Amino acid sequence: MTVSELIALATEAKTHAYAPYSSFSVGAALECEDGSVFTGCNVESASYPCAICAERVALGAAVAAGNRRFQRLAITSSGEDFCYPCGICRQNLIEFSPDLQIIAVSGTTGEHKEISLSELLPFSFTSDNLKQL
Ligand code: THU
Repeated sequence: MTVSELIALATEAKTHAYAPYSSFSVGAALECEDGSVFTGCNVESASYPCAICAERVALGAAVAAGNRRFQRLAITSSGEDFCYPCGICRQNLIEFSPDLQIIAVSGTTGEHKEISLSELLPFSFTSDNLKQL
């Protein structure tokens, strides 16, 4: 799949965002090791902290379908800025794939930038830390 195709899937997922409180729609497309892709959008709640980010919706769907290794994650939002995963999503994602390639897309221009997850979350806390007990 091309980068443009992955971004198109994230953009389509964004149209399903449920974001009546922030009005900030996000779509994500997560590509698994076998090439399959799972998408997600943000899902908000009247109880604001319950909001789930698009990236974790996609991750949950992919893991529930039996996937554990991921290659690329495209993220787009309704904002102009490039949309990178929030801190919680970075931690959830690095559990599975430290070398995941993040494709951050501008919601208005469609331009994108690529960066690895380990660059976004250096010195991360992982299961290795728990082995030191
Ligand atoms: N959001 C995401 O879905 N992904 C991000 O990377 C940043 C934030 C959502 C959460 C909330 O529904 C809205 O954007 C505003 O924070």
